Formats: sequence, structure tokens, C-alpha cells
Amino acid sequence: MIIIPGPASRELGEKVARDLGVEAHPVDHRVFPDGESYIRLTAPVEGETAVIIQTTSPPQDTRLMQLFMMASTAADLGAERVTCVVPYLAYARQDKRFLEGEALNLDIVIHLLEEVGADDLIVIDAHDADSLQRVQKQHRVRMENLSAIPLLAEHLKEFGYGGAFSLAPDKGAAHIAELGGEVLGGGFGFFEKHRDLRTGEIEMIVRELDVERRDAVVFDDIISSGGTMALAVSGLKEQGARRVAAACTHALFRGDAENCIKDAGVDYIVATDTVQTVFSKVSVARLIAEHLKAILS
Ligand code: R5P
Repeated sequence: MIIIPGPASRELGEKVARDLGVEAHPVDHRVFPDGESYIRLTAPVEGETAVIIQTTSPPQDTRLMQLFMMASTAADLGAERVTCVVPYLAYARQDKRFLEGEALNLDIVIHLLEEVGADDLIVIDAHDADSLQRVQKQHRVRMENLSAIPLLAEHLKEFGYGGAFSLAPDKGAAHIAELGGEVLGGGFGFFEKHRDLRTGEIEMIVRELDVERRDAVVFDDIISSGGTMALAVSGLKEQGARRVAAACTHALFRGDAENCIKDAGVDYIVATDTVQTVFSKVSVARLIAEHLKAILS
């Protein structure tokens, strides 16, 4: 197995290689003055399983293109199997046509990955596991969705949040709160969220929950603008919650997200290193390494 950390996940890729006890072979990468990427694999892959590790957080399009270049080159140079580990899978939120004429982004990304030669796609907390399964049925590439929520919850438990109530900001993410709740042991629930499809504005329906004078954790897959998390945190604080932590797998934190969540009264923010930020206190390296061991041995 040849571990190839891409330019967007060099540190994480090297950690995965360390956990597997093998050498990492980061790609040689440059950006030309016009913005185009240069990619060169640095280890022979002929007859090998090439494991490419590349997250696709912003700038998504550049990072996706680099991923396609690495997968295509590995296949072209005779890799027996091309396994793409994409810790944060961009474009997964546009998994259906909400409005007539819209592009099916998730399907397009998967289709392109398969076309360039990927045999496996491993992602962490894909926005909607059901959508991934739907797309899987139309493609040959084998897809696996791993969850980092139990790791985040373990971290929070060690940090003093044992027994806290676990909340998902939306009904569709209730399973995430349930996973967190299994570790924290303080029950779980969800609010409801509606997003205006044209303006993007969010409305949160705050349901009454058993959180008065208790600690609570809001779990979500992504924090992007911070709007969803901020509404969930303030909904809990208004109901008398004591400390409220915000936990997400993918910390995109665009614009003023951090202040937006802090202004809502959050007490602690934690994320994983699928996207490397100051909030990345939990690593998914071991989760990825264990999965690779299981499928490739
Ligand atoms: C959406 O359904 C996701 O699960 C997140 O709740 C959402 O992407 C967060 O976005 P933002 O931080 O911009 O509200």
C-alpha cells in the first residue's frame, strides 16, 4: 500500500501513514502563476494499492482538480487499486434538484472520480449518507462513509461534558446527535431547520428540551457560515442550558462564523482535522488507518 498525502491533507496523510507504520509519499506539488496545479507522484505505484488522501474544503474546485489529477495519474501508472480518502467531500450538500434546472453536484463529483480511475472512495461524515448510497447504486466505485462523531463525543467527555444533552440542529441530522448521545449518555434530541432555497436564510424551530441547568452539545457535520450552529446554541441557552459546546466534523468556518457562534454564547468549539483549523482538536487519522487496514489487508 502506498500512502499519498495530497497537497490539501499533507499533515493528516502523514499521520495516517504513521498509524499504519508505513512511509508516506506526499506528491510534488506547485501552483503555476496562472493558478493551474502541477502534480507529480513521488513513489512508483505499479501493481500497488495507491491510497490518495486529499480533503476538498475551500478552495474546493482546485482541490478536487488535484484529486482527479492524482487518482488519474496513479491509475495511468498502473496502480492495481486507487483508493481515494476524501475526509471532507465537497459538493455533497447539493445532492438533489431542489429547484428545477439545478446541477446534481454530488453525482457529478462521484462520476468524475470514477471516470479518472478511483476504485474506492472513503469519506468522513458525508453530508447525507443516504444520498451517498443512492449514488453508489449508479457507480462502480465502492464508497464508505465513516463517522467521527463518537470521537468528538469522547473528546468532549474527557473535557467534562459527560452526561451532557446531545442536540442536532435539524431533524435530518438526528442520527448524529444519537451517536454523540451514546457516548455522552445524557439523551439526545433535535431542533428543526428550514432554509430558504433562494435567499439561503435559515429559520430554526426551537423545540422544548430537557436542558435547563444542564450542559449540552450541538453536533453537526459542517460549520460553514456558523448560522445554523449559532441558532442552535442560542436556542439551548434560552432554555436555560448551562454550558453549550459546538462540535462539528468539518470546520469550514467561512467569514465571521467564529464570532457568530461566540456571540450566540457558545462555551467550547471542537472539530476534527478533516479540515485543519484552530478547532481541530480531534484527529480522524486513526479512524482512517483502521478502516484502510480492514479493507486492504
Ligand atoms: C446542513 O444541512 C449542514 O448539516 C450544516 O448544518 C450546514 O451546512 C451548516 O452551514 P452554516 O454553518 O452555513 O449554517
